[in-house]
Amino acid sequence: MPVIRFVREGRDVECYPGENLRDVALREGIQLYGLKGQLGNCGGCGQCITCFVDVKGDPSATNCLTGRTAVEDAKLRRRPESWRLACQALVERSVVILTRPQVSMADQRRRIDAALSAPLPEGPTAWPVVEASEDDEAEGDENQSSADAPATPGDEP
Ligand code: FES
Repeated sequence: MPVIRFVREGRDVECYPGENLRDVALREGIQLYGLKGQLGNCGGCGQCITCFVDVKGDPSATNCLTGRTAVEDAKLRRRPESWRLACQALVERSVVILTRPQVSMADQRRRIDAALSAPLPEGPTAWPVVEASEDDEAEGDENQSSADAPATPGDEP
């Protein structure tokens, strides 16, 4: 279902419900980090506070991600309510995201407005199901049941 619209990068990226925002961004080559985060970050543990993103849209847009974690409540006390730590947020519905909101960009207001006004595509609605091959069927019932399970992003060879 979700599509993440990255305003700064001008890209729409599909993901599956429940995917981690930081993981999706890194997989797609989206730069989440400013210089400090590029030099060193916590790898997604919620400790370095360098993976800021700003959820754009009306206040209900923040509901497109899972709720703020206790780590975010502690670390983002002095930041706007719409800011999140990408490593702590799971994507539930299509959302418009500004990466590195602490860094301004040219023509920012117009680009954000354009991103918000264009309709967001639906994207995939469920995890893909891996089809069992004839070789998999010959391996027995135990392996057969695992071949029918939905794939996760880390399952690719
Ligand atoms: S990667 Fe360190 S807080 Fe998100």
